[in-house]
Amino acid sequence: METLKATYTLSNNVAIPKLGFGTWQIKEGEDAYNAVKTALEVGYRHIDTAQGYGNEKSVGRAIKDSGIPREAVFITSKLESHIKDYEGAKKAFAQTLEALDIDYIDLFIIHAPWPWHEMGKECNAGNVAAYRAMEEAYNAGKARAIGVSNFETEHLQNIIDNNEIVPHVNQIGYFIGLDQSKTIEFCKEHDIFVEAYSPLGIGYLLENVDIQKMAVKYGKTPAQICIRYLLQKGVAPLPKSVHRQRMIENADVDFVIETEDMAFLDTIKGDPRRWDDIA
Ligand code: A2P
Repeated sequence: METLKATYTLSNNVAIPKLGFGTWQIKEGEDAYNAVKTALEVGYRHIDTAQGYGNEKSVGRAIKDSGIPREAVFITSKLESHIKDYEGAKKAFAQTLEALDIDYIDLFIIHAPWPWHEMGKECNAGNVAAYRAMEEAYNAGKARAIGVSNFETEHLQNIIDNNEIVPHVNQIGYFIGLDQSKTIEFCKEHDIFVEAYSPLGIGYLLENVDIQKMAVKYGKTPAQICIRYLLQKGVAPLPKSVHRQRMIENADVDFVIETEDMAFLDTIKGDPRRWDDIA
């Protein structure tokens, strides 16, 4: 599973493992602890959490207990979406280091351009202020990279125009069928690295018949086709699973999807995600 060892390089020369492990929806406590511990045993070295997931404590404990040297694990967390001021961001950043029980974080990002409960609200000034606190953390060596999540072009342009550091990363929902070309094009132009959350469409994409057929052609699983597709797009997928076998399956993606099959996957359109069972 060479993919687990491979890295991309951010605009500030920091290496980031190509494949990450997502922890959204994994409950604080034994669930998060066991999932992260297992992912590290399987070989993942890139763990993605967030203040809003409520599981930083267990994620940090699992990393510590794994015995893997701190510098061998790339850890990401995210500023809660409603914190849109300098002081709040500064305090929250310190809390993240404390909860994860680490001296520095590899990547810290603003979770969303607006609070989740006010999606679409214009928060330009607040994002600039919060990001300024993150720039300070970066300049102090407490964060090796900083960035944003769920930002569209206008949100990114606001930070570029009003802050010092161009975000190193934009983490967005991205999977086969979801058109993110506008944001990705903008990110490429500005050397902002793209990470893909929900690479399996929170699992629902695996029901897609065309993806299932392609999986048969390659002797792979639908999940492996979904993850490999994103790797060939040059982004970092962050699949989530609480099952060891699936963690292994999702990382066993050292194969190549041929150009014409990539082009076919590009023609798939639609967002299969359903939210009924999401807390
Ligand atoms: P589970 O945690 O029970 O394994 P995404 O990464 O797009 O958010 O998708 C996560 C969802 O997909 C979770 O419900 C997870 O369930 C499921 N999942 C993850 N990997 C696989 C896999 N290889 N095969 C089937 N389902 C998977």
